[in-house]
Amino acid sequence: MALHPLRMRLAAASLLTVGVLVAATPVGATPGVAAAPDIPVASVKAHLTQFQSIAAANGGNRAHGRPGYKASLDYVKGKLDAAGFTTSIRQFTSGGRTGYNLIADWPGGDTTQVVMAGAHLDSVTAGPGINDNGSGSAAILETALAVSRAQFKPTKHLRFAWWGAEELGMVGSRNYVNSLSLTDRSRIDGYLNFDMVGSPNPGYFVYDDDPALEKVFKDYYTGLGVPTEIETEGDGRSDHAPFKNAGIPVGGLFSGADYLKTTAQAQKWGGTAGKAFDACYHSSCDTAANISTTALDRNSDAIAYAIWALAE
Ligand code: TRP
Ligand code: CA
Ligand code: ZN
Repeated sequence: MALHPLRMRLAAASLLTVGVLVAATPVGATPGVAAAPDIPVASVKAHLTQFQSIAAANGGNRAHGRPGYKASLDYVKGKLDAAGFTTSIRQFTSGGRTGYNLIADWPGGDTTQVVMAGAHLDSVTAGPGINDNGSGSAAILETALAVSRAQFKPTKHLRFAWWGAEELGMVGSRNYVNSLSLTDRSRIDGYLNFDMVGSPNPGYFVYDDDPALEKVFKDYYTGLGVPTEIETEGDGRSDHAPFKNAGIPVGGLFSGADYLKTTAQAQKWGGTAGKAFDACYHSSCDTAANISTTALDRNSDAIAYAIWALAE
């Protein structure tokens, strides 16, 4: 029997439907749970290029109290506003200079259960701070933009933060936590921190502060077949510390700073033994060239995986 044109259209439509269902529920995924998107690393790197240009136009850095910091903040805010986030700039003072945190809320979800991700946006004065911490800043920015592209409707409420003056001793993040009422602190289910996630001679370190948050990242890396280690390069040396001190569960990823990669680590991760994870840490050479694209890609995808898994 020849197919009637209408039946042909229906057949084509049902094939399309099958295709969509297959795509939405990959083998091994839980039906009804949206799969986290693949974060395009080229887009993350495009943000790094912008941070590099901002530093070049502002005396070579993006440090607290310098024009390159505020220009970086305005760049991130512009992207988030255009994507439908509710943003606010929170001012504070440190060392006689005005500092700024940027908070971005994704409308919707249960605001008594907040999943939060943050990264410090300031560099040291020595250079443009592309791995430290353009990398974490760009990775969570692109994850936030992916939330918007997917029009993700999670059960929990999503909040992203870019901190000022981390390099002066976690000043911005501490100021934010101190500004929250005890009720608002108790509403944060978890805070995820990303400080240096594209180190050029990378390690794959997962914060072990909270077992449930640690597990989400370890699961992602197990799926990739990439071994991880517990983050130990100076515990509490980044913006998760004020959250942890306030009793909020914290997690995060780190690809290494000025510690040297051991022979055992080079065997499992590749790269160069006896060399720092980031030999340009806090130096003028922390430029867009000071990035492992592979580490940046894996960590960006791991961030999206964690946000989707924790907020659903
Ligand atoms: N926070 C440090 C900086 O910005 C980098 C750093 C060192 C770090 N050790 C860490 C970050 C451990 C996270 C975890 O200069
Ligand atoms: Ca990716
Ligand atoms: Zn730093």
